[in-house]
Amino acid sequence: MRWNTYVTRIVPAQSLDILRDVSRIAVWNFEELSVSREELLAQVRSADALITMLTDRIDAEVFARGKNLKIVANVAVGYDNIDTAEARTRGVIVTNTPDVLTETTADLAFALLLATARRIPQASVYLREGKWKTWAPMLMAGQDVHSATLGIVGLGRIGLGVARRARGFGMRVLYHNRNRNPEAEARLEVAYRSLDDLLRESDFVVLLAPLTDDTRHLIGGRELSLMKRTACLINAGRGPLVDETALYEALKAERLFAAGLDVFEKEPVGPDHPLLTLPNVVALPHIGSASIHARTAMANLAAANVRAVLTGESPLTPVV
Ligand code: DGY
Repeated sequence: MRWNTYVTRIVPAQSLDILRDVSRIAVWNFEELSVSREELLAQVRSADALITMLTDRIDAEVFARGKNLKIVANVAVGYDNIDTAEARTRGVIVTNTPDVLTETTADLAFALLLATARRIPQASVYLREGKWKTWAPMLMAGQDVHSATLGIVGLGRIGLGVARRARGFGMRVLYHNRNRNPEAEARLEVAYRSLDDLLRESDFVVLLAPLTDDTRHLIGGRELSLMKRTACLINAGRGPLVDETALYEALKAERLFAAGLDVFEKEPVGPDHPLLTLPNVVALPHIGSASIHARTAMANLAAANVRAVLTGESPLTPVV
């Protein structure tokens, strides 16, 4: 067989079946451990294609070693882990997995919003720890979601999915985005705001912007101080969109009602992470797209992109 593909994590075997007749396939065989840097650098030497995860740093060094590399197929819609400028310079195609995870990730973002607003994980732990003595008027009282104002930062595919869900809850929806979206404004009745106005007006702020040099620490101390004391911040995009030290201070001082975080500045985090010591944080281990169906579809799409490139076709979902 002519080609070699290296896969940096265990993905569904059926996804790799898409490729088996055109490429030899080697897999990093540890499900809960990222591929080591040494192994990645060793494997890329002979690889024509890489199937990568958002935890793999695909930088200039990796591209320099990958003399035969034709495609890096990321199993994620975000691709901030890949040096796309370097890929472009070297003529390596980069692909992501849009669309197949949109609704799944919007489900999770909305679930996190509900869980944060109504303190669902805290209430569940309270009960399991045997603390429930009686019904009490203000026991685990949270914020109403229905009829509240939602501000979406990053109105891409997933943001639009969240906006559609919000309509079912009778929410007023604001958005902030690099470009305005007149079609969405008309169809979904979402209203554009500057970031500052969105932060001032919203009861819930959901972050879904991609991570770029422009969006790193988009939400810092100044931005948090613009939010309502009763507001919740939900981050379902990328951890570094938020300055976590500033968020910790704001939550600890109760200048914000709560935060729901599916992502962190430096992942993974453990229970000793400062934000996880706060009672008003709902935290998840980056599971936005983690349904069996979506994760399988993402791996399928990555494999199909590799197959296309190795067989001389156009990639299905290129970003470079
Ligand atoms: C993505 O696809 O970028 C998500 O963060 C993975 O769930």
